[in-house]
Amino acid sequence: MIEDPWKPFRFAGGREAPNRLVLAPMTTDASDPGGVVTEEELAYLRRRAMSGFGMALSSCAYVHDDGRSWHGIGAAGPEHDASLASVAAALKAGGGLAILQIYDGGRISRPAMVGEGRMRAPSAIPSARPGAETPRAMSGDEIEALIAAFGAATSRAVAAGFDGVELHGANHYALHQFSSPRANRREDGWGGDRDRRLRFPLEVARAAREAAGPQRVVGYRITPFEPEPDGYKLDDALVLIDRLAQAGMDYIHVSLDNFRLQQPQREDRSYVVRSAPTGSDGRSPIAAIRDIVAGRCAVIACGGVRSMGDARDALAAGGDLVAAARAPLVDPDWLAKLRDGREGEIVTGLPEDKHAIAQRCAIPPRMVGYLLSRPGWIPRDGA
Ligand SMILES: Cc1cc2nc3c(=O)[nH]c(=O)nc-3n(C[C@H](O)[C@H](O)[C@H](O)COP(=O)(O)O)c2cc1C
Repeated sequence: MIEDPWKPFRFAGGREAPNRLVLAPMTTDASDPGGVVTEEELAYLRRRAMSGFGMALSSCAYVHDDGRSWHGIGAAGPEHDASLASVAAALKAGGGLAILQIYDGGRISRPAMVGEGRMRAPSAIPSARPGAETPRAMSGDEIEALIAAFGAATSRAVAAGFDGVELHGANHYALHQFSSPRANRREDGWGGDRDRRLRFPLEVARAAREAAGPQRVVGYRITPFEPEPDGYKLDDALVLIDRLAQAGMDYIHVSLDNFRLQQPQREDRSYVVRSAPTGSDGRSPIAAIRDIVAGRCAVIACGGVRSMGDARDALAAGGDLVAAARAPLVDPDWLAKLRDGREGEIVTGLPEDKHAIAQRCAIPPRMVGYLLSRPGWIPRDGA
């Protein structure tokens, strides 16, 4: 097991990350209404990528207009090609690999963005988010079309110069919803028992693998168990992960709010843990995932990484690479300070003043509103 985050990592198809530190995907909610990246977003991404991450993930891009959850970038049609190319170039500014994260929102799409009656999901069941509207259940044809849309978005990413894509199968988006007994109550070929619930994510993974070709990186981000009591358990996720490894994924990215506390994101997005999640029966999801993939693909650990010690511990826990989101969000020079042994200089909280957040942290002003909309999410100065 390698515990030195500065050692390079080579993926199966030959792409090499110059170190094991990964910029985690972060939505900005600051793209233009048509899904085209803005100059402010590019500056924000470039600033972080330039600090030298071995691999940098984009903010999440929608693959279909009806699955948009925020004002982010699109990978849904030719109108997005130039925008994607500039995102890829920004993420490569520091010499690391550039990966496009792609998603569909399903029942956590934003109704105001997708339009009346267009929000669709595996089943007509609203999400656990407060005030959620009821989606309509997708038809079989819509499901097939969405699989094709993930494949087409992967082709766009390749043409735009990305080193690969990450399928956003975590945090309650559509790929997650299909695998969840909470969200998927279908009784056809796409639901009814675990195998059928896993069919959609596996077909999306195969479509992306085919579109990417053998040399590009294809990863899958997963919530390793649902913290809700009626959700899927770690053992269910391990079945999916085993099949994703068989389907040729290059890595599994384990999405946890905190890798030490084994806290996955709740669908209602509350950051107060009301009771200890039980879906992993006390096991470490990262170690269990490392064991099930058994070297067939890499594992990325994420959640609560703030220091070199955290990064080393995440690798020791079973990660081949380790991703960080809020630390480099708050301090764009976080990685450079780690590398130069200046950990004491790392800024750990957003300033109180909104304008100061945008300026001091090099964050698009519209993203600032998004960050502040969820109390307790991002650390603040003096908190
Ligand atoms: C502003 C913000 C936006 C995020 N957007 C995404 C996203 O688009 N896709 C995703 O998979 N995770 C997203 N996340 C989750 C992070 O990638 C990460 O899993 C989480 O913040 C825990 O890691 P951290 O403790 O290093 O922040 C987002 C997190 C933040 C703070």
